[in-house]
Amino acid sequence: MNLSERDKQHIWHPFTQHQLAPNNIPIVRGRGAILFDEHGKEYIDAVSSWWTNIFGHANPEIADAIKKQVDILEHVIFAGFTHQPAIELAENLLSILPKNQAKIFFSDNGSTSVEVAIKMTMQFWYNQNKHKKTFIAFKNAYHGDTFGAMSVGARGVFNSAFEPFALDVAFVDVPTNENFEKVIADFKQIIQTKDVAGFIFEPLLLGSGGMLLYDSKHLNSLIEIAKSEQIICIADEVLTGFGRTGKIFATDYLHHKPDIFCLSKGITGGFLPLGITTCTQTIFDAFLSEDKLKTFFHGHSYTANPLACAAANASFKLLISSQEKIQELVDWQQEFYLHLQKNKKIENVRQLGTIVAFDVKTDKTSSYFNSIRDFLYDNFIQRGVILRPLGNTVYVMPPYIISKEELQQIYVVIDEMLDLL
Ligand SMILES: Cc1ncc(COP(=O)(O)O)c(C=O)c1O
Repeated sequence: MNLSERDKQHIWHPFTQHQLAPNNIPIVRGRGAILFDEHGKEYIDAVSSWWTNIFGHANPEIADAIKKQVDILEHVIFAGFTHQPAIELAENLLSILPKNQAKIFFSDNGSTSVEVAIKMTMQFWYNQNKHKKTFIAFKNAYHGDTFGAMSVGARGVFNSAFEPFALDVAFVDVPTNENFEKVIADFKQIIQTKDVAGFIFEPLLLGSGGMLLYDSKHLNSLIEIAKSEQIICIADEVLTGFGRTGKIFATDYLHHKPDIFCLSKGITGGFLPLGITTCTQTIFDAFLSEDKLKTFFHGHSYTANPLACAAANASFKLLISSQEKIQELVDWQQEFYLHLQKNKKIENVRQLGTIVAFDVKTDKTSSYFNSIRDFLYDNFIQRGVILRPLGNTVYVMPPYIISKEELQQIYVVIDEMLDLL
């Protein structure tokens, strides 16, 4: 039996309807922006493997850092103990986060970083005998698949089975120039009528919700209102963090700074799972007490895994030294963005930093289940490019180290596909 057949016998894949899905493609090796399957076919990873792999596959610097760490300390319980890679990572992160961030809490993926942020916010109020339980979130948001994270994400087909068990969340529209007055009015109305604990948002870019962009000035105003009402503002930078938007964090485009940050994905350069939730001193202080019941009782077995921290520290170094390279990718993507604008078969062409997205015109309303999605995906794969359209929304989010030729190849394949439609 080949790898695909063995996989099919035993493995249940994420976001996969196995009755309809073709065999999964076994990848045996990666190098830079390229993945190789078992027959040696090459695929350009134009989605950075679910947006994690920012410095390329098998990146030598990150691989070396992990190899070194493996021989020193692979893991240690993080309650009662600590270690150099975690401390160094905390210092590194605080050196690039806004000055109001003071403490770093570790977990192991994007959803748990959000879950921690939600629980931190709830208990921040609970510890002060203020029982606030409502969160404000955007209608098209995606924050992950654990219960809290799912609750603050868009309600719909993906989570209808769990809807009765969701947290109390009030949703507002993603702001645009046209609806902004209404969004502000709705936002204020929710604050007046509910005990709002926190406002959670993906800054400037709602990723899984369809690569929707919105203006930093609108988000600034919402954060300003929330802060004036002592509502905790949570920036989910799981996707946008570590250079994706052209700045280190998307919130670097904002004047008003969030109280909590959720980080994951690019943090280890796509090598190992790691989640981080950071917070202000004020939030941390609300958990300090002689009373043990005020403790934040949350932790995962692999909290602050030293190998993941070593990978993150190596990735951090690359991030700091790669600012010009990232800007070069932003410039290349801008040329493609301008080129795409001339194409009549697509609309809503948009760019934020290293990401370009557009919607293929279709007579059906845009949705994840749009049949054009499967047509595009299958054809991209056949042509050796990994692009995973969200419904009729196609986006290019490559590793920062992609070469101009590889990027050009992605553009050619997209143009050819659009010609076929
Ligand atoms: C903004 C955002 N938050 C959270 C998550 C969840 O991260 P993970 O898949 O690592 O649980 C994602 C994943 O796509 C995301 O895009």
